Parts: sequence; structure tokens; C-alpha cells
Amino acid sequence: MRNSVSLESAAAIVRRRLLRWYDRHRRNLPWRRNPPDPYATLVSEFMLQQTQVRTVLPYFERFMRRFPTLRSLASASIDDVLPFWAGLGYYRRCHHLHVAACAIVDHHGGRIPKDVDALRALPGIGAYTAGAIASIAFNVAVPAVDGNVCRVLSRLRGDDPKSAGSRPRNEALASRLVAPRRPGDFNQALMELGALVCSPRSPDCPRCPLRTLCPSRDRNPPHPARRAMSRIRTSPVLHLVALAVFRKEQTFLVRRPDRGLWAGLYMWPTEEPAPRADRDAVALELCRRLLPRVAAIPNHVGHLRHVLTHRRVHFDVYVVRVSAGARPTVAGRWKPLLTRASDPPLSTAQRKLEACLVSHGSA
Ligand code: ADE
Repeated sequence: MRNSVSLESAAAIVRRRLLRWYDRHRRNLPWRRNPPDPYATLVSEFMLQQTQVRTVLPYFERFMRRFPTLRSLASASIDDVLPFWAGLGYYRRCHHLHVAACAIVDHHGGRIPKDVDALRALPGIGAYTAGAIASIAFNVAVPAVDGNVCRVLSRLRGDDPKSAGSRPRNEALASRLVAPRRPGDFNQALMELGALVCSPRSPDCPRCPLRTLCPSRDRNPPHPARRAMSRIRTSPVLHLVALAVFRKEQTFLVRRPDRGLWAGLYMWPTEEPAPRADRDAVALELCRRLLPRVAAIPNHVGHLRHVLTHRRVHFDVYVVRVSAGARPTVAGRWKPLLTRASDPPLSTAQRKLEACLVSHGSA
């Protein structure tokens, strides 16, 4: 605590050094506009939740070309919006962004609210995103503490970012530090410092503008980061049997429900087998349910693994060919392999599955 008190008394120095560093080293990112554009800020902050800047960049550019204004987004259907999110992951964000845009049109006259509480009342907007939008787009002096910022502030306090109670202490410190005249730049400077200098495993302390104030400097690593691999190895595995039905060169996809994993995206029809169930029998059953008149037996063509943040997904991939007249019992869409522009939205896992079908010569 003593350390954070002394840090707060050095608030003016922290602000000055951080903003000077940011003015020199900030990346030229497409959502950093002068003057700020609230809609671009809204879209970028949704995309940047749990996702790195370099991953977001091409998605942001494409999304803004297709939906250049809040009203253009609000008047589109979710099925028109999802293809522009496909591959970025965490699809709930896309649903939330779309609902938020509609709510802003319906309840705020199409103007993104400046007020943190009004922002937090919108779907998909928590304390961090509300703070980021209010400060960046509207110059409101509020903090925005995401994972990167939390790490920077914890180290500045000489604390472990993973320790209990770290987040509220960092939020309290950020509230007192935030620069009253340039809050958006200040918050982005902390994010930028976390991304470019104060990285999780190998912080570049000699290049840090706050090094002389930082009790964690040159401790290598300052606090050992949890190994990403161990989380992957212990995350639960979801086993799925996927069935690619081919009718001529086209293959059949179904839309996932609007909630849960890959919400609203398309995928090859899939079944989760009971723990010790025979996969061939599950694929056959799925095939019979989709196409009761088809006698062909699905062929196992591959196995693939996909890693998500909190789980792993293992697919057993089956193929069955049907005649031109075959009609599945459920609604869906037909598509040839490896097209892009006219495709329904597909997750990265489904793109891998598609590659598996291509390499097997299924088209
Ligand atoms: N992460 C979240 N918001 C960001 C921003 N505005 N700039 C850089 N990284 C971010």
C-alpha cells in the first residue's frame, strides 16, 4: 500500500512520462482518429476484447468498409454482420455489438452515449469497455483497466498481477492516475506500454518510460507468467463427429443456434457422441437423421484438433455422397469447398475442417 501512495503522489510524473512516450511510440492504428470517431472506437473496443491488435486489424478494416456508420450496422441483419466477424472468435461479441447498435439507434437517437453508466447498460459493455469508449471517444476522465493495463499497474505497485485483490487495487490506482485533460490517450498509453514494452514474460525495462518508478524493473521475469501450454493441456476436450454431405460439388452446412459456442455461424452437421460410443455408428445415425432415404454409409476421412481458450475440440470427420435429388430434413445451406465471398460465416475450426476435406480430395 505504501508503494501505491507514493506512486499517487508521483501521478503528475507518471502522466507526463507516459504521455510523452505515447506521443513518440504509439502505433498508427486505424481506430485512433483525430478527432476521435465514437463509432470506430465502439467497433474496435468490441473486437479488441480478448484479441490482439494485429489479429483485429484486417477484420476492423473490412467491417468498417461494409458497415461505415452505426446506422448501417443497426439496419443490417445479424446474418449479414456475422460473415465480417467469422474467424475472429468469441462470436457473442458480434451479437452484442449488433444489439448494442440497435439499442443506440432506438434509445439514444443513434448517438453513442458518453456516460459510463449508459454505456454499461448496453450489451457486451463492462467496466473496461465503457471506460475505454468514454475516455477515448469523449474525453471523459475515467480509467480503462484491461489485462495489459492490470499487469503494468501491478508491476508498478510491486505486486503480482495474479494475486487476489490485484484488480480492484489497480482500478483504484488507475482512477487516481488518469490524466484529466487527455484520458483517452492516457488509457491507450497504458495499453500500449503493456503491449509493446511491459510484456507478460519478457518486459523490456530499459525502454520503459516508468522504469525509475517501478519496483519490479529488471526482475526477470517480474512475476512468472502462468504457462499457456499448461492451460491448454488441462482444458476439457469436446469430441464431435462432423458429417460432410456432398451433393455434386456442394456440401451441406447448418446454422448454429444464436447462443453458445460459434453462435450463429455455420458448420458441417455435428453430433457429440456419448463417452464410449462408436464414432462410425454416431456418424451413420446422424446421416440417417439428416437424410433418411440415403443408404450410403459415411466414410471416416480424418481427425482434427482445434484449441479454443477454455477447451479443445476434436473432430472426427466423415463424408457421404448423395444424389442430386437428396434433400436434408433440416434447413441449411449448400456451398462448394474453398469459396470465400459468398460463403456463410464459418469459424476457424470449420475452415480447418474444410481444409481437411480438401486434402482428402472430397470435393
Ligand atoms: N486494446 C483495447 N483497446 C485498445 C486500443 N484502443 N488500442 C490498443 N490496444 C487496445
